[in-house]
Amino acid sequence: MAKAKENHTDFGFRRVPLGAKQGLVDDVFHSVARRYDLMNDLMSGGLHRAWKAALVTAVNPPRNEKAFAVLDLAGGTGDVAFRLADAGGPGTHVTVADINAEMLAVGRERAAKAKRNTEFIEANAEALPFPERSFDAVTIAFGIRNVPRIDKALAEIHRVLRIGGHFLCLEFSSVDIPGLDRLYDMYSFNVIPAIGRAVTGDAEAYRYLVESIRKFPKPATFADMIRATGFRRVSFQRLTGGVVALHSGWRL
Ligand SMILES: C[S@@+](CC[C@H](N)C(=O)[O-])C[C@H]1O[C@@H](n2cnc3c(N)ncnc32)[C@H](O)[C@@H]1O
Repeated sequence: MAKAKENHTDFGFRRVPLGAKQGLVDDVFHSVARRYDLMNDLMSGGLHRAWKAALVTAVNPPRNEKAFAVLDLAGGTGDVAFRLADAGGPGTHVTVADINAEMLAVGRERAAKAKRNTEFIEANAEALPFPERSFDAVTIAFGIRNVPRIDKALAEIHRVLRIGGHFLCLEFSSVDIPGLDRLYDMYSFNVIPAIGRAVTGDAEAYRYLVESIRKFPKPATFADMIRATGFRRVSFQRLTGGVVALHSGWRL
């Protein structure tokens, strides 16, 4: 009985076999890829830009020629990668890795137009195709909760970071302010799927996104998971009343 439980995981509010989750997640992002960036602006009222700016500030890529390699994991359409490349100097190189070919295709088209120092690689966060200690920083924004085996992804992030490298994770979190939490629930479960239906034709995809946020561990628990992987000086800050948390850890 316990064994059967171990082999299942959350896909939003549904329990699914662990091996089935990635395919379901891939369907979600395949379905929304072309409208993904527009939807982020609509759903968050543009706030995702401020959250990503906080992430980029924390990475603090050098402004000069100094070589600085960043991996933006689950980087999808490249939104975070372009901000990192813009913030850094000519020595900053950003690799986007994502499991979804459709999200990457949108990212490559954007990169070709904007001529940024970025490359896009199809890869699973649980088994990264990079040598040990190859990046100065690894970022993941709104991606980790979609990965079926989060512990494997964290171990891979740790492996590919050089000693002294910085891991930063931006993820939706939990709003604990009385009053605001009910308003946030109302917005999340009613308004977001409705916007999703109107813009992408897929309300279910956005219902999953909202449900998966509720299932993701609280920031203190997730910080413990990061620590258990071997990261040091682990900390987090809540942004926008806890809607989002920015986690930080170092490979030392
Ligand atoms: C909500 S999007 C975030 C995209 C981007 N980081 C941003 O903030 O705009 C989540 C991304 O995680 C990717 N993803 C899901 N599971 C993954 C996995 N196992 N490995 C790598 N990427 C994954 C999805 O394909 C999708 O592009």
